[in-house]
Amino acid sequence: MTANEIRDSFKNYFESKGHAIVPSAPMVIKDDPTLMFTNAGMNQWKDIILGTRDPEPRRRADSQKCLRVSGKHNDLEEVGHDTYHHTMFEMLGNWSFGDYFKEGAIDMAWEYLVDVLKLDPKDLYVTVFEGSEEENLVRDDEAAGYWAKHVPADHIINGNKHDNFWEMGDTGPCGPCSEIHLDSRTPEEKAKVPGRELVNKDDPQVIEIWNIVFMQFNRKADGSLEPLSMNVIDTGMGFERLVRALQGKHSNYDTDIFQPIIKEISRLSGKEYGKTEDVDVAMRVIADHLRAVSFSIADGQLPSNAKAGYVIRRILRRAVRYAYTFLNQKEAFMYKLLPVFIGEMGGAYPELVAQRELIGRVMKEE
Ligand code: SER
Repeated sequence: MTANEIRDSFKNYFESKGHAIVPSAPMVIKDDPTLMFTNAGMNQWKDIILGTRDPEPRRRADSQKCLRVSGKHNDLEEVGHDTYHHTMFEMLGNWSFGDYFKEGAIDMAWEYLVDVLKLDPKDLYVTVFEGSEEENLVRDDEAAGYWAKHVPADHIINGNKHDNFWEMGDTGPCGPCSEIHLDSRTPEEKAKVPGRELVNKDDPQVIEIWNIVFMQFNRKADGSLEPLSMNVIDTGMGFERLVRALQGKHSNYDTDIFQPIIKEISRLSGKEYGKTEDVDVAMRVIADHLRAVSFSIADGQLPSNAKAGYVIRRILRRAVRYAYTFLNQKEAFMYKLLPVFIGEMGGAYPELVAQRELIGRVMKEE
């Protein structure tokens, strides 16, 4: 399946389960002082989760543009050096606002991955929150019980507060979560070390693909947890990682999401991808940052000297620096990649097509 087909298959599956398919919110946030950019699919539903906005329709699904470059979730320095972190990424999500809860969310996630997408259950591991004395919370036995319907006990792993209690920021909706991890190593490697020993250990071939959050609390400014008025399901699946798994690749950058951009960088710079580490890192940085900067500009955030604009300027300059140092690009370069990038992504995100000229002009001037 191509990336575009995979995105559609997610929406079709959840539509068949009674979810309204909704558009991505803008990646740039203007009306929430606690966040500069959308860092998770649930951001746009915060008021519903906190009970101050109408929750209907109670089942929704989408593909959300996210940017993780500031605040609690910040992946910037990893980007380019590994093969599975990004600044901007798409998060496939389904929500239940007071409708189904843990059992429904777990059953649907499993059915979609195993029955629809045909991932091998032997390669999937799930984590559950082990509890936290500090927060006065016990282990999530309920989620573990539902997982046990689908996976053997040695594929269910306890996780600590850092990995298995999801929070949007210092305040706001939060709750225990279960992550689904995929082991995509070779059979020989799997025979040597069981996948369960590598979950959450930074192994580039054993990675989290889907986070299922059981939103039950609101973290208040004094640090205390207050129960929400309804139980909420918030799931987020890393689209680029899913595509990589389904296309049988070992790097997100080898999928059809990134390869057209990398080939264009290669054509324009005369350097080959896959030969030397410095050049490869540079190409990954540029391909990643091109997406982040383009979507930000399309959503109304231009590079500037302050706050969100400064974050975008830093991302763009990081890419330019890599292009200058390792690809020998002494002139404006990034904007030349836009025709290929927008050609690939413009169908799913028409704002890129609508803002094509502005994106190109701003990038070139910067
Ligand atoms: N909010 C969770 C996350 O961002 C699940 O969507 O990982």
